[in-house]
Amino acid sequence: LNSDKAKVAIIGSGLMGRGIGLAFAIGGHDVVLVDLNLEVLNKSLEQAKSTLSMLEHEGLTIEPTDKISSRISLEPSIEEAATKSNFIVEAVFENLEVKRDTFRKLDSVSSVETILASNTSSLPITQIASAAIHQERVVGAHFWNPPHLMPAVEVVYGEKTNDSTVSKTVEILRGIGKKPAVVRKDIAGQIGIRILYSMIREATHLVESGVASPEDIDTVVKEALGTRLEVIGPLELADLSGVDLVNNVAKGLYKTLDHSIEPQKIVKDMVARGETGIKSGKGFYDWKNGTRSVDEVLRKRDSHLIKILKERRDQQLAK
Ligand SMILES: NC(=O)c1ccc[n+]([C@@H]2O[C@H](COP(=O)([O-])OP(=O)(O)OC[C@H]3O[C@@H](n4cnc5c(N)ncnc54)[C@H](O)[C@@H]3O)[C@@H](O)[C@H]2O)c1
Repeated sequence: LNSDKAKVAIIGSGLMGRGIGLAFAIGGHDVVLVDLNLEVLNKSLEQAKSTLSMLEHEGLTIEPTDKISSRISLEPSIEEAATKSNFIVEAVFENLEVKRDTFRKLDSVSSVETILASNTSSLPITQIASAAIHQERVVGAHFWNPPHLMPAVEVVYGEKTNDSTVSKTVEILRGIGKKPAVVRKDIAGQIGIRILYSMIREATHLVESGVASPEDIDTVVKEALGTRLEVIGPLELADLSGVDLVNNVAKGLYKTLDHSIEPQKIVKDMVARGETGIKSGKGFYDWKNGTRSVDEVLRKRDSHLIKILKERRDQQLAK
């Protein structure tokens, strides 16, 4: 597989799939988008074009929108797409049987050289891969939302994935400007979701114990931890603080941290009351009558990510 020239197919062109396709098209690859739902498929190109215009306006694409979007095509047939591609990313529903069916099909119609990657966030790669005969070329490629703006992608080994599949996947992702991270064991939640959920578990515990309001907890995470995390990860921080200090703090603190092995009562009760967050208008926050707006939060998220990407582009150009 020549990673510069790989023809990429995306199976499932929903929220993640179309953004992943866009990232590959911006990176110079021909991309074919596939979806069972023709309405979703037909809309995906328009949505990709509108995102591209925004990125072009921000100066984050080198080529004009039309040139990039001309590399994206739509294909209702998974078989057709698979035979024409040598790097395939699956982003269908998060359902093991749906994913296994998809990999069974992809494995039977594509060349054995083709890499089959799954964007699953929570299902074991090994179980998805075992639907295929050639399991050595099945790998996890976990993009984060929104995939065209978030740099990291976790590249996950299944039990039978071979090193060459992982190194080619890393190479192709680097080639489109992503920051791949290799996950050597097929562990639930990979790296990012595990760390995120340790944080969500502790944050919900602090609310449940009456230690602080959701707003104050989010303020500390955003304004103390978050602003620094982009440049200093937790293990760099451990070295900066001193591993001896970490050892001492951990001795006292760890036993006081939440150890729940299932969702806490506060979370289960909220779900039972229908307080599911933005879907119902109420979760930890009031999204209906309060001052919070979903559009505003998403707009802030995207403009923050765009600002970071622009800074990185400028640093690159200055080199
Ligand atoms: N949403 C996120 O933040 C996020 C982040 C990282 C990873 N993921 C993972 O990405 C995957 C997709 O999630 P999403 O949020 O884009 O979901 P989505 O529902 O927006 O998109 C899934 C798409 O797959 C299509 N589809 C379903 N079965 C299909 C099949 N057999 N063949 C072709 N198309 C099929 C559906 O029509 C739908 O358009 C999931 O595995 C999810 O866990 C999601």
